[in-house]
Amino acid sequence: MSEAYQQAWQASTANPEAFWAGAARAIDWFTPPTRTWDEGGGWFADGVLNTCHNALDRHVADGRGDQVALIYDSPATDARAEWTYAALLDEVGRVAAMLASLGVGKGDRVVIYMPMVPETAFAMLACARLGAIHSVVFGGFAAHELAKRIDDATPKVLLTASCGIEGKRVIAYKPLVDEALDSAAHKVERAVVLQRPQVPAAIQSPRDLDWQDLRAATAADPVPACEPVAAGHPLYILYTSGTTGVPKGVVRDNGGHAVALSWSMKHIYGIEPGDPWWAASDVGWVVGHSYIVYGPLIAGATTVLFEGKPVGTPDPGTYWRVMTRNGAKGFFTAPTAIRAIRKEDPDATLLHQIGTGACRAIFLAGERADPDTIGWLEEHSGLPVIDHWWQTELGWPAIASCFGLGDVRRRRGSCGFPVPGYAFAILGDDGKPVPDGQSGAVAIKAPLAPGTFATLWNNPAGFAKNFASFPGWYETGDAGHFDPDGFLNIMGRTDDIINVAGHRLSTGQMEQIVARQDGVAECAVIGADDPVKGMIPVAFVVPRAGFDADETLHDRVIAAVRADLGAVAALKTAFVVPLLPKTRSGKILRNLLRKIFNGEDWTMPATIEDPSVPELIVQAVKEGVS
Ligand code: COA
Ligand code: AMP
Repeated sequence: MSEAYQQAWQASTANPEAFWAGAARAIDWFTPPTRTWDEGGGWFADGVLNTCHNALDRHVADGRGDQVALIYDSPATDARAEWTYAALLDEVGRVAAMLASLGVGKGDRVVIYMPMVPETAFAMLACARLGAIHSVVFGGFAAHELAKRIDDATPKVLLTASCGIEGKRVIAYKPLVDEALDSAAHKVERAVVLQRPQVPAAIQSPRDLDWQDLRAATAADPVPACEPVAAGHPLYILYTSGTTGVPKGVVRDNGGHAVALSWSMKHIYGIEPGDPWWAASDVGWVVGHSYIVYGPLIAGATTVLFEGKPVGTPDPGTYWRVMTRNGAKGFFTAPTAIRAIRKEDPDATLLHQIGTGACRAIFLAGERADPDTIGWLEEHSGLPVIDHWWQTELGWPAIASCFGLGDVRRRRGSCGFPVPGYAFAILGDDGKPVPDGQSGAVAIKAPLAPGTFATLWNNPAGFAKNFASFPGWYETGDAGHFDPDGFLNIMGRTDDIINVAGHRLSTGQMEQIVARQDGVAECAVIGADDPVKGMIPVAFVVPRAGFDADETLHDRVIAAVRADLGAVAALKTAFVVPLLPKTRSGKILRNLLRKIFNGEDWTMPATIEDPSVPELIVQAVKEGVS
């Protein structure tokens, strides 16, 4: 263990206030906080700052204006462009002026439904500049999901693009956005559309504005100043899958977020001002918010915004090419991406040809990293591969080996150790810690560190629920254990959330969609193992009387999930079965379904209502009956 890690963790738990007050000095405050934590006000309650100022203006003022801040690297479109801090500030200023001209100001919400283009980052930072609250919605979600988020966040303005590029396919966004805007109860005043040459969109409704037209019309407007906001003022709302099927609007504040991200870039990832850094995620996810946009810019680093896929754009060498040509010193991706690369390039021929350049460590998160994948990547890259763990709710890593603090301890299958600022316990059902080695609910001591969620948008009761099962602790929803050497192992969720290709989804939500379809009596959706995506959803559907011979049921169910939730749900497998295995009290035995589908050994549950059902499921899976 590194002494620096040991000292930092102890300092952060022995005296969190002193620890975080020290970290807060890395941030520019208009009014420095005099209080670090207070129960009613949260972190840095009386501090006043602006996140955009911390990400851009201050670096320019400090002489970093000519340093590259943002690199857009798009193997999907064969484009690459760079913005210095000064140029990025100009662009963000222009978008802030555009938004201001539409009446967007402090506290207003702006929904951003955009692909991985630089304008998406400009838009996020422009909102931050105005003190507006952005809510980025991942492009893989369908119109219905976008509409739900519009109704919850009630934005004044929506920003979108004419299309997204998914590997080799071009996906028109505008029809989907129109459907969402038309079906949402909340009426957005303006939708601003960035035209991309691959598929321009029709600008017909008086509600719609062309991005470039608006930019030209506001070109002479002054750049809005950075709006001073209280530390607790929301920076963004990011919706994530909850267990109820209703998306949870995670609210991130400005102050704690800036402090935590600044601390994490240096101490977890080892990134210093001026260092190139690349997180291969999407801005629609928390990784994109924290480590494509805000973290590296607040730290004064150079961030890479990548538009492409690990494979197919154009080949499984893309990651290594982008990493080397941009000189990334650190790289972050999801294990699923590595599995996808390995599948197409099992001997890592392209990795050996291209190399990893200046990269010093590869960080994986978003889903369980299987030891085999880590081993493959370490062997072929020659770099430490650091699995680490966090969640949308937390906003930054909570379990890791803090590379920046000199800690490179790794054990395949484990995510490492509690990050400074976080104290963990593994709790049993009775709320008491279980002995080391034993599995239980993974809980984090409250109050949570700066940068973690402040509340849930429109749902303070839902927020409080996360702290209700184990008073004094935040229930992560994950199960896991400490091994005898203190490594934390995360084994899976305790609820219905699954991670499909690193994307967080709720099987409960899919069940609700499937159950609504004509002819469905009941259903279960499980998360099954998948060699590339880690997990995939699989549906088991019992037809209602009269629908047993309905050959459309299988396809309708799959199409409905895609239409309602989005392509990202990736529900491609469904079985129409006569019955579901249930306990005598009527609970569906989803674990049994999962084991049968995975081809794992299973035993007849003692509580099963009808012991003939599992065999029916085995048969259905074997025959691929649909
Ligand atoms: N806009 C529109 N559609 C999208 C989308 C987006 N932003 N992202 C994904 N989709 C679509 C895909 O095109 C695909 O559609 P299809 O069923 O018509 O083929 C579907 O949603 C599922 O996408 P995905 O799960 O990404 O599967 P894939 O087979 O296209 O790619 C991987 C598999 C592993 C290559 C890809 O998921 C990947 O790169 N994962 C990395 C994940 C990641 O970075 N996660 C962030 C957390 S760290
Ligand atoms: P998200 O909110 O999308 O980041 O998903 C968070 C969930 O993903 C966690 O609660 C875990 O279940 C899972 N997860 C994230 N990182 C890891 C990891 N390194 N190992 C295992 N599971 C992970």
